[in-house]
Amino acid sequence: MNSGLKSAQVSEPLSLCVVGAGYVGLTAAACLAQLGHFVYCLEADSEKVSLLSQGEIPIYEPGLKELVEANLANQRLKFTCDPSQAIENATVGLLCVGTPPRFDGDPDLSQLSQAGRTLVQSSDHDLILVVKSTVPPGSCEALELIFQDTAEDRIRVNVCSNPEFLRESHAVWDFFNPDRIVLGVDEPSLVALDRLYPSDWPIIKTDRRSAELVKYASNAFLAIKISFANELADLCSKVGANAEVVLAGVGADQRIGSQFLKPGPGYGGSCLPKDISGFIAVGEAVNLDLQVASAARKVNTQRSEDIAQRIETVLGGLSNKKIALLGLSFKGGTDDTRYSPAIGLAEVLVEAGAEVVAYDPLANIFGKPIPFFRVESPYVAVEDADGLVIATDWEEFGKLDYQYIAKLMRGYDVFDLVSKTDPIKLGEAGLNLYGLGKGFSIESHSLLWTSLLWAM
Ligand code: UDX
Repeated sequence: MNSGLKSAQVSEPLSLCVVGAGYVGLTAAACLAQLGHFVYCLEADSEKVSLLSQGEIPIYEPGLKELVEANLANQRLKFTCDPSQAIENATVGLLCVGTPPRFDGDPDLSQLSQAGRTLVQSSDHDLILVVKSTVPPGSCEALELIFQDTAEDRIRVNVCSNPEFLRESHAVWDFFNPDRIVLGVDEPSLVALDRLYPSDWPIIKTDRRSAELVKYASNAFLAIKISFANELADLCSKVGANAEVVLAGVGADQRIGSQFLKPGPGYGGSCLPKDISGFIAVGEAVNLDLQVASAARKVNTQRSEDIAQRIETVLGGLSNKKIALLGLSFKGGTDDTRYSPAIGLAEVLVEAGAEVVAYDPLANIFGKPIPFFRVESPYVAVEDADGLVIATDWEEFGKLDYQYIAKLMRGYDVFDLVSKTDPIKLGEAGLNLYGLGKGFSIESHSLLWTSLLWAM
């Protein structure tokens, strides 16, 4: 954690109301309080409010508990279920509620409009409502009409866009070290928004539609980068090249950049899958076929099936095979399992007849029924396993005792989809390592013939 930036302060603190105490809302509320603002966080779940008011955090997010505790203690952060209390002194409300995808890929904005209407009905003064949730271009304008209609002529309501770019597991660090803050404001008189963040932070001030689209396009581009890396890794294994080296070579070009070029079991989480679908739906709404994004989504959708097929080939079938699965959360460092590729892969393996026994240090499956067993130790998961699949990039999976694992397993095949293991250590343990872009299926013989033909 960069404590230097964590001590950043705004020069003129505001009274704010943050609606929603999920990943985005809770982080925003605690970090904005840390910047010096007075924040009321409004949350409908009364149990959550009483936990949070005692400094207990219902999610795993490094550094967040400390911030909540410190700002509860200095009275700059409070939690409530009562909208009137939350909005009493606040002229700015930040809407941080979910925009889950509907069946057609469009986001469902009903939680946003409900949250905004509640604030409008509870307020006796003009409001600036800031949409932090990811929404299609034009949403802020549409919400403003709805809110102004709710307010009738009693108060004036302006809606602005300030999309959130925080990554789960790095959210606090990201807040205090932003690459950019995007503020979409169509009404120049809303100067209060200039006081939201320290003035020396990298702020891009633009119109609302552009701000809304920056968020969608950023997440779509990240998804495209990952799908490209995954396809490239597959190509590497077909032509006998090493994906790690190829991707490092590609990413070393500063125009491309090395981040988000790591092959894996596909992208997951609450944002990338939802936002690429939302981005494609924005295009469809104006008769534009966003083909690059559609292809990236297709690659990702097929990823679990493709990987399961390759595991099946190596193991000589999946029926009645016992597979140990390490990892259930959608990425390492978080307990979140929404759209987790690890769970998607487990479901495909079970569907194909395998018995899956999974271990994850933290994953919260929110009481969702899962078609496989979950155990409390990686060493229990691997007992008598025909194959071991590592599907989430938890650091601890690289540090396991693979000599011991080799003794516990029935088979020898390890499918490391997240490049966490040391090939030498696995080799010494007598295990066969299959990594993405390394050893799944090398067709170098046929390639050699093709190359000879080309050379002649
Ligand atoms: C993402 C965006 O990064 C963030 O800006 C936005 O606000 C919310 O969505 P998050 O969902 O927390 O953040 O996860 P992120 O770290 O972006 O990873 C998304 C998925 O991509 C994960 O499944 C991850 O494992 C995968 N990934 C990431 C790869 O497969 N390869 C990579 O190189 C990077």
